[in-house]
Formats: sequence, C-alpha cells, structure tokens
Amino acid sequence: MNEKEIIDIEQKYMANVYAKKSLMLVRGKGALVWDINDQEYIDCMAGYGVCIVGHCHPQVVKAIQKQAELLISAHGSIYNEARSRFLKKLISITPKGLNQAFLSNSGAESIECAIKLARKYTGKTDIIAFVGGYHGKTMGALSATWKKKYREPFLPLVPGFIHVPFGKSNGVKNAITEKTAAILVEPIQGERGIILPPPNFLKELREICDSADILLIIDEVQSGFGRTGKFFACDHFSVVPDIMCLAKSVAGGVPMGVTVSTQDIMSAFTLGNHSNTFGGNPLACAAASAAIDVLIEERLPERAASLGRYFMDRLEELREKYRLIREVRGLGLMIGMQLRFDILNILQNSLKRNVLLLDAGRTVIRFLPPLVITKEQLDRVVNVLDNVIGEEESERLRS
Ligand SMILES: Cc1ncc(COP(=O)(O)O)c(C=O)c1O
Repeated sequence: MNEKEIIDIEQKYMANVYAKKSLMLVRGKGALVWDINDQEYIDCMAGYGVCIVGHCHPQVVKAIQKQAELLISAHGSIYNEARSRFLKKLISITPKGLNQAFLSNSGAESIECAIKLARKYTGKTDIIAFVGGYHGKTMGALSATWKKKYREPFLPLVPGFIHVPFGKSNGVKNAITEKTAAILVEPIQGERGIILPPPNFLKELREICDSADILLIIDEVQSGFGRTGKFFACDHFSVVPDIMCLAKSVAGGVPMGVTVSTQDIMSAFTLGNHSNTFGGNPLACAAASAAIDVLIEERLPERAASLGRYFMDRLEELREKYRLIREVRGLGLMIGMQLRFDILNILQNSLKRNVLLLDAGRTVIRFLPPLVITKEQLDRVVNVLDNVIGEEESERLRS
C-alpha cells in the first residue's frame, strides 16, 4: 500500500477520536523510530509512555516469538507457565505486601478493577479523586478523571466520585464521609502536565487512609516501571498503597494492565466478581517477563534517574535562555516543560526536525522517552528545541 492509500483507509474506517500527527511509523529500535520514507526520529513520546525498554527490545521480541510459537492464548481459568513466571517477577518488584494481581489489558481496566475491589472490600461506595487527575476513559475510570471535556458528553457517570485539590491534604480530610471507600491518586499528575505533589503529600494521604480506615489506590499507569528513577513513583515517597494500578510499559509494548494489592484485600473478590477474556494471556505475560528482566539487567530505573537529571539540567539552560519557557519540572524521565503559549507549533516544528514530542494540555511539552535513550539523543532533542523555540521567540518579538 502506498502512503496515500494507508491514510485514506484509516480516515475512512477508523473512529475519528485521535488528533492524527503527520507521521506514519514503520519500524522502531530503542529510542528511534522510522517513517514510511525511512526518515529517522527520536521518540520522546514512546507510544504515550509505553516503550520504556525501547522499541522492539531484542529480549522482548525473542520472548514474544518463542511464546507465539508455543501458545498465544490461555484463559485465566487455565494454568500457564508464562503467566506464573511473570507473576513471580512482578511480585518481586512491587512494593512490600502487594502480592496478588488481577491481570487485564489497559490502564483504564486496571482502574476499573481497583474501583470494584475497593467497593467490595470496604462495603462502601465513594472514591475521592483529584482535580486534574487522569485515570482513563471507560465509565468508571472516566468518573475518576477530572477534565470536563472528557466527562460531560457522557453524563451521567458512575456516582460516588468526589474531586478535591491535588496536593492539599486538608481538603482530602474534609471530603471523607462514612461512605468513602478509597482515595485514588496519581503520584505525579501526568496528563495534567507533570505536576509533582508537595514532598509529604503521599505520606499524608497514607496516614489519612490509615486513620479513616479507607484504602489508598495509587495509579502508576504512567509513572510506574522505572519511569521516574525508581521502580514505582510511590517508592520515592516511601509510601505503600493498598492497591496499585499499572499498564502502559508493563509488557514492553504489548497491551497489559495490572491491578496489584494485598492478599487480604484481593480476597474480597470471589469467583466471578471480576474477569476478562484476554487478561494474563501467555503472549503478554512472556513479553512482560522479558521487559522486567531488561528493566533489572540494564538498571533502567537508575538510568532514568541519572539521564533525567542530565536532561532536566539541559532543559533548564533553555529556560534561562528563552523567556517563552515558564518552567521545567519532573522526576526521572517523566518531565514537563511549560511554555507561556500554545505549544502546537513547537510540536509540529520539532516533528519536522525529526523529534517526536508529546503534549500535556495546551502549554506543556511532556517528555516520556524510552529509558534506553542515550545522552547523545537527548542532546539532539535539546538542540532541536533550542532552534524551534528560538525561532518562535524571534517570530513573536517581530510581531
Ligand atoms: C495515570 C493514568 N491512568 C490511567 C490511564 C489510562 O490508561 P489507558 O489509556 O491504557 O486506558 C492513563 C493513560 O494515559 C494514565 O496516564
């Protein structure tokens, strides 16, 4: 198929819910991707933070190939070695005490499971979520998501969700009632623009949950698996949640969602309470096992921490150079750069110079590169931004 045919077919037959970029990807390796004309790009988007071990990591590819030849599908009601291996590895890296998992296929599904589990375990209905929070777009996850634009066309949502300001524990305390089952929080608000909480906030949430006897659900869908410089962002704050949600990067690029909790809490689910057809399929589990091996063997969390510091320093130099840049913030390789204007031009012009970037709202450039990205590649990203933002600033000064 030629380029035009591919575009025409996607436009005709695919639901029109994505703002398409002028980019058609064919292959990827590490932090690089190539388009249909064999143009190379540095990928700071990584499929919205999915490809944490890089595109097509050889160990992940090999594991998928091997498992595909053996067995692709086995329902959760049937035992399977690939799933067992994955679960053992997963539980070896999750925070202490979180030792039972429900396996699904996406971030939103991992949240749905957490909401149902919290309701079932506590026998209560309400969930406290946060202003600016993002948890996905299925009806339960959407009810926890803050943005009006996402919620309003689909009212009425699931009842019992309350949103309070992020980073303010007093507001949380005041929102608790006898109906509250859990607090649901992103340790770093990704979609909102990489917003870090005050240093004690998660600890305070833990204390609030303990004293009110409610559950703390931490959504690590975007921040988990080494992204922030530790296996999980909650590790930075020495907080262990009651339920943790994972997805995106878990299986090296193959769809997987995980809801992990304590055996005690998970045992609130009884036969048939929750299920899905594909969750824990051997193919995804084999890919996920390989991804965890890579994460550990290549010390990717440590790499994210040191490269993140380096990249933030370089972006900070740009902030000192250009008035248009308001702030650089982040943890590990989960970084936001807030500009003083709409960033659409910057994203498009960077793409023309072979750097693929992501937005978070209208004014924040979000960097979620594969953790295998090199210093040299990050330097190239900084150089492109230097040129693109420099041109935009001159343009604005002229007009
Ligand atoms: C923090 C967080 N939670 C949940 C989700 C939903 O994940 P998915 O798009 O896989 O349903 C996302 C997706 O961006 C996310 O960033």
